[in-house]
Amino acid sequence: MLVAILGTGSVACTIALRLLGAGHEVVLGARNPATATDRDWVRELGGKVEVVSLSAAASAGEVVVNATPGSTTVEMLIDLDAAALTGKVLIDTANAVVFGESGPLLMYPNGSLAERIQQAVPRAKVVKTLNTMNTAVQADPTGMAGPTSAFVSGDDPEARSLVTSLLHDMGWPPDSVIDLGGIASARGPEHYFMLFFGLARALGTRRFNIAVVR
Ligand SMILES: NC(=O)c1ccc[n+]([C@@H]2O[C@H](COP(=O)([O-])OP(=O)(O)OC[C@H]3O[C@@H](n4cnc5c(N)ncnc54)[C@H](OP(=O)(O)O)[C@@H]3O)[C@@H](O)[C@H]2O)c1
Repeated sequence: MLVAILGTGSVACTIALRLLGAGHEVVLGARNPATATDRDWVRELGGKVEVVSLSAAASAGEVVVNATPGSTTVEMLIDLDAAALTGKVLIDTANAVVFGESGPLLMYPNGSLAERIQQAVPRAKVVKTLNTMNTAVQADPTGMAGPTSAFVSGDDPEARSLVTSLLHDMGWPPDSVIDLGGIASARGPEHYFMLFFGLARALGTRRFNIAVVR
């Protein structure tokens, strides 16, 4: 499958590496493709991935991944040609926070970025996932002391299944992916950022993850 990732930062390139390792094709979208190829993260892909404009990537991908700041994602997607995303699964990995003096503030405290994206690009099938763990965990999903969890939220059941399957390809074991249901369920994983931030500060590391135990 050809997966277009919007962004060329740590999340974009970590996901790209996992997908390439599973035999998928990847194209990256950047605001400035010419300079993006100089970024360390992109260099680590070893030239296996083309970097094109955000619009060209979105048009090319069978599935599109948002790996840009959540604070600007909605505007970025609205600026794309709507046809580029029509009928496609749009995976959103972003956290929509701004940092104040006392720490992070949620941009959508009574909703979620994922719902805002679904409203902004209604013909895309938005699925929220992978925003609840650091790239160190995204890069090595089974590298924790025990099994941990990833979540999917989205209104289209087939889109959630496809994303679950892609997560398995990226190394998430069968029982590790929890389907939370419709797009409004993305509020939980998004608001978790407040606890994530506190845990990271308390533990002195971002290499940890949620383990849901029954
Ligand atoms: N880092 C993590 O461990 C982690 C984990 C889970 C979720 N997330 C979320 O994933 C998203 C990406 O995080 P990251 O750590 O990969 O960030 P990053 O390394 O800073 O990369 C951000 C990427 O977004 C691009 N970008 C910035 N503003 C943009 C705009 N207005 N329009 C289009 N592209 C823009 C940047 O491109 P330029 O080079 O042009 O600036 C860069 O390619 C964020 O929403 C973050 O909250 C991060």
